[in-house]
Amino acid sequence: MRTELVTTIAQMREWIAAVRQGGRSVACVPTMGALHAGHGALIERARAAADVVVVTIFVNPIQFDRKDDYERYARHLAADREFCDARNVDAIFAPSAEEMYPEPIATFVDVPDLATHLCGAFRPGHFRGVATVVAKLFNIIQPDTACFGEKDAQQLAIIRQMVRDLNFAVDIVPAPIVREPDGLALSSRNQRLAPEQRRMAPVLLKALTEGQRSIAGGERQAAKAIAAVLRVLEGEPDIRVEYVEIVDPRMQPVDSISGDVRLVAAVWLGSTRLIDNLLCRIAGSEPNATYFGA
Ligand code: PAJ
Repeated sequence: MRTELVTTIAQMREWIAAVRQGGRSVACVPTMGALHAGHGALIERARAAADVVVVTIFVNPIQFDRKDDYERYARHLAADREFCDARNVDAIFAPSAEEMYPEPIATFVDVPDLATHLCGAFRPGHFRGVATVVAKLFNIIQPDTACFGEKDAQQLAIIRQMVRDLNFAVDIVPAPIVREPDGLALSSRNQRLAPEQRRMAPVLLKALTEGQRSIAGGERQAAKAIAAVLRVLEGEPDIRVEYVEIVDPRMQPVDSISGDVRLVAAVWLGSTRLIDNLLCRIAGSEPNATYFGA
């Protein structure tokens, strides 16, 4: 059956009410479109978790700190619909900005403890915009399950915190990072890389892997493992490092490594920002499923 395309909140609520009447469960995959295999992996998770899958496609203006980034963001609804058709997605919810924000929004969801450092330090208001739109989408769709990628590890931690703090009745299911064969994490923004930038981009994972290797080799000082990452990145003069950090399961930067940590980084290649992260497990430590996923 063809994926249903729903563009208004009222129609979405009606559609969900009919699904609920039939006693079926709902999994939601929030996206900004320009769908790729990373989103595809989330759709698969969603399919496994519930009877009905809804993919939301909304380029959310209030999470962009730069107008040019919002305007340049890839929008390919026809191709996205085919992508969803091929994966048996039941419905796409693709509202306009006017539908979601008929007037300037005056209520926000903020998770400051988790949102003011790392990406949040460089993108003011970004996570407030993300948490707010995800709360709106959860209220409109009322899913049993929602799937988010570990590629955006800070976003995932913030959504989990929001769900706990505000008692949303939704189970948050994480999915691992999907990569190109050369290691570059898939992202809708990768399309913007010029060919020579695209060739350079896998150095981000290579650098993180160096840090991971140093931790696996016994390094417990975060600064030294970070230095191993920076050494690789500094070998590429066209890469500008925004941050490289080692964080604990609560996404807080650590000085010394005593349990499972995540190496997280953001870099610029020209005017394109790339983020990536790698989980570094320490033998004998308890994996923290709450934030890091399975
Ligand atoms: P978007 O960047 O479209 O990503 C939608 C979801 O896909 C997020 O959960 C993200 O972590 C996941 N994702 C993206 N690339 C991935 C990859 N290579 N591997 C695995 N998962 C990947 O994140 C957003 O949109 C927005 O902030 C949103 C949550 C929709 C709120 O507007």
